[in-house]
Amino acid sequence: TKKTIEFPSNFFWGASSSAYQVEGASLTNGKGPSSQDTKVLPEGTADLTVSVDHYHRYKEDIALMAEMGFKSYRFSISWSRVLPNGKGEVNQEGLDFYSNLIDECIKHNIEPIVTMFHFDMPAALDNLGSWGNRDSVQWFVDYAKLLFETYGDRVKYWLTINEQNMLTLVGNVIGTLRVPEGTENVTKEIYQQNHHMLVAQAKAMELCHQLLPDAKIAPAPNIAIAYAASKKPEDALAAQNANAIRNWLYLDMAVYGKYNNLVWTWLADQDALPDIVEGDFESLANAKPDFLGINYYNTLTVREYEAQDGYEVEFKSQQENSGLENMFLGVDNEFLPKTEFGWEIDPIGFRATLREIYSRYHLPILITENGLGAYDELTEDGKIHDDYRINYLRTHIEQMKLAIGDGVEMLGYNPWSAIDLISTHEGIRKRYGFIYVDRDDESVGSLQRYRKDSFFWYQGVIANNGQDL
Ligand code: BG6
Repeated sequence: TKKTIEFPSNFFWGASSSAYQVEGASLTNGKGPSSQDTKVLPEGTADLTVSVDHYHRYKEDIALMAEMGFKSYRFSISWSRVLPNGKGEVNQEGLDFYSNLIDECIKHNIEPIVTMFHFDMPAALDNLGSWGNRDSVQWFVDYAKLLFETYGDRVKYWLTINEQNMLTLVGNVIGTLRVPEGTENVTKEIYQQNHHMLVAQAKAMELCHQLLPDAKIAPAPNIAIAYAASKKPEDALAAQNANAIRNWLYLDMAVYGKYNNLVWTWLADQDALPDIVEGDFESLANAKPDFLGINYYNTLTVREYEAQDGYEVEFKSQQENSGLENMFLGVDNEFLPKTEFGWEIDPIGFRATLREIYSRYHLPILITENGLGAYDELTEDGKIHDDYRINYLRTHIEQMKLAIGDGVEMLGYNPWSAIDLISTHEGIRKRYGFIYVDRDDESVGSLQRYRKDSFFWYQGVIANNGQDL
């Protein structure tokens, strides 16, 4: 017999975006440059000076989200828009922009869910060593304080750092978290930066609870479990290594303030333990997230490491001389289809991941990202028939529903992305939105918005609270 599973009545159906990927106005209106504006763009990808012009069109965009019935909108604040140099002088125009955006959400009964840091380090702080500088902890806390004081009367849900694990593992691809030229122990440098982010996050969570007792705050890592490629016991160990390095390190630190033992010993073996300042562990232990923001895209499948051609080391790019090779090797999973951009599609892995997270941490989960990057076609009569995206989202929502049936406490679903935006390194040709934007990687286009088929489908899902998919 099939049991009926229901989404909570106050479930946050919505979607997500990030500042640099949608706003544009990246070097105007008082905004200082960020690491995204100074990075070298891969050839043939749209630059970020216009993005999809959300900065000037946010009212129209929020109205479209309201038309879909959104209960929440997760967006990020650009640090260098409000603090052009990352610290010190404030850009009032930037502060006002987010204030207006928040008001616009509230006007439409959309809960604003604010990410404080989404891949865009102020360039001025990059020049001071970015997260590699111990002072970065204080820079972030001061920035957090400004946000809590300015928006805390209206914003109840906060996310600290988006996908810190991906920054640590592949930050070079994303364009943030850079390793200085000539660094001898790359792993140590990367995990030192990672440690600073963890302490900064912990202090920001504590400050949030002090200043805003009713607010809720959480980390937002990208979590997806690793499967063992076979029943060979060595592959089970490799999967544990991958899970520890990719996933649990970040949640163990955010929730318990403790370094995962597999990661700790792995770092120690490479002489790469971070320098820890007195008081760090205290801050880490004192900070408690109220829920967990989770981005989920795809699982990984791993086998034991053997020096052999034909296998790919996951996350190799940033870790060339890091010893990650000894821990696991990523392999294709023949049970899983792939997107046009080569990402495996695994809705059941979504359920498995949610179960695993909840049984480890027992905190409610807010999905802060999930979604399909694909080529879309605008037809002559102004339609986008994105049934592939509908399928992707439907199967993932089905599995999330089953996870609720498994006893996992879910707060909401905010897939990527509300509106088409510039992807991290594959331009706007890789689209994610419910709302299509007329521009491509070569030209800015009319920037006119169109409702995709998925727009109308999601509108229906929200209207019946996920009963009919
Ligand atoms: C997440 C990020 O990693 O995935 C987003 O938080 C990103 O910023 C999204 O856009 C999709 O990845 P990509 O590389 O296709 O843009």
